[in-house]
Amino acid sequence: MTTTGHPASGESRPKATPARGRFVTFEGGEGAGKSSRVAELADRLRRRGFEVVVTREPGGSPGAEAVRRVLLSGAAEAFGPLAEAILFAAARADHVDQTIRPALMRGAWVISDRFHDSTRVYQGATGDVPADRVAALEEIAVDDVRPDLTILLDVPVEIGLARAAARRGDAVADRFEKEEEKIHERRRRAFLALARGEPKRFVVVDAAQDPATVADAVWYGVCSRLGLAEKD
Ligand code: TYD
Repeated sequence: MTTTGHPASGESRPKATPARGRFVTFEGGEGAGKSSRVAELADRLRRRGFEVVVTREPGGSPGAEAVRRVLLSGAAEAFGPLAEAILFAAARADHVDQTIRPALMRGAWVISDRFHDSTRVYQGATGDVPADRVAALEEIAVDDVRPDLTILLDVPVEIGLARAAARRGDAVADRFEKEEEKIHERRRRAFLALARGEPKRFVVVDAAQDPATVADAVWYGVCSRLGLAEKD
C-alpha cells in the first residue's frame, strides 16, 4: 500500500477492498452547521468503539491544506474556474491517497466535511466548468474511493448566510462566502438535484431545525443506511 507520496504516474493506486471501513461525507451551503454535526457524529461513533477519522475539504492532508490556503485566499481566482477546479482536484487526490484510503483500508470510519459533490456544485453547476470536465477531474481525484453515504444539510440561504456571518464575526468572508445571495440559492438547488439523482447515497436533512434535532436526524440517517442499531 502506498501511504507516502503519490504513486508514480501510470502505477495504479491501491484499491480499497470490500472489507474497508465506512466513508461518510457532509455537504451543504454556507452556515449549514456541517462542522458541528460532523464532530457530533464522530463522537457518537467513537462511543460505539469505532475508530473515526474526521477530515475536511479542501484540505485533510498536509499537501491539500497548502492548496486550501491558495484557494480560499482567492489567489487562484484570477486563473479562472477551470484552474480552481483543477486545484480542488489536486488537493482531493492527495487527501484521498494520504488520509482517506489508508484509514478506510484499516477499517476506520472516515467523515469528511465536504467532498466531490462540492466541486460538482461550486465549480460545475454554479461555476461554469463543463460537466464533462468536472467528471474527468473527479475520476482522477477520487478513483474508487466513493462515499458510502452523503448527508446533505439543507438550509434556506438567508438562514445559512446569517449563521456564517455570525460565526465569522469581524473576520473577512472567504473567496466563496462573499459571493452574491443568488449564487448561494443556485447552489442549494444544485445540491438538492444531486441528492434527487442519487437517492441511495444521499440523506437530506433539514438543517434549519435546532441543532439537537438535526444531530438526531443525522444519526438516524447513518444508522438506517449503514446498518447500525440506533440505540446502544
Ligand atoms: P470552508 O471554510 O471549509 O467552508 P465551509 O464551512 O462552507 O465548508 O471553505 C470551503 C469553501 O470552498 C466553501 O465555500 C466551498 C468551497 N469549495 C469549492 O468551491 N469546491 C470544492 O470542491 C470544495 C471541497 C469546497
